[in-house]
Amino acid sequence: MKEFKKKIFDVLSKCVNSILAEPMIESSIRRAGVNCDKLSPGDVNRLIGEIQKSVKLFVGNPLDRKNCLRLLNQALLREEANRKIKVGKVTFEIKNESDIVRARSRGRVICQELGVRDSVGIKVATVISELARNIFRYAGEGRVEIEVLDTKPVGIQVVASDNGPGIADVNEVLSGNYRSKTGMGMGLIAVRNIMDEFEVESSPGSGTRVTVKKYMQ
Ligand SMILES: Nc1ncnc2c1ncn2[C@@H]1O[C@H](COP(=O)(O)OP(=O)(O)OP(=O)(O)O)[C@@H](O)[C@H]1O
Ligand SMILES: [Mg+2]
Repeated sequence: MKEFKKKIFDVLSKCVNSILAEPMIESSIRRAGVNCDKLSPGDVNRLIGEIQKSVKLFVGNPLDRKNCLRLLNQALLREEANRKIKVGKVTFEIKNESDIVRARSRGRVICQELGVRDSVGIKVATVISELARNIFRYAGEGRVEIEVLDTKPVGIQVVASDNGPGIADVNEVLSGNYRSKTGMGMGLIAVRNIMDEFEVESSPGSGTRVTVKKYMQ
């Protein structure tokens, strides 16, 4: 049995019949869709989530169930997984179209490394390209910083900033009634909808700074 599977087996067999423990692990692996020879930190988190689901299903006695979930958490597997995630920041100077594409692709790759569903990575990548495109279109140049946050669950932060003309009326832009001369006028609203946290700091002449976060649950 692989080292990681054995760790989970040791915890589980303390609270469920060991005949049940193995199939519980195997079916969780299948549901999580992970390969135990190559587990990314995100895979580990997903797998533990699936095992906790099976515990809730198969362990009937509430006290045993609680104990089992506690033991699983105590095994610090999740902590271990989170520690392995490389937290840190990358900065992209945005000066032309290809910079937008590079920033966008990196956002998606970072999400893949975190082991989240690709649909989440695509959303984060879309947000990055919307914000980078605004910089390029309205300010000429600026920067996009992508940062993996050491939060639980792990988060990804994107800060798009420039020293351009600023946005005259942020509230109007976000009201849903704004008419853009240059685009659909929906970029920032879409970004706000996709992300968990959203903040715009801008006033005419002082540049624009958009800070957004998404948590990888
Ligand atoms: N970085 C920026 N600097 C200056 N003005 C900006 C910046 N980002 C957005 N704006 C202003 O805010 C408005 C709304 O931006 P938003 O991205 O929501 O829509 P849009 O760019 O007009 O259209 P699209 O739906 O194609 O993105 C823009 O029309 C622009 O006037
Ligand atoms: Mg836009």
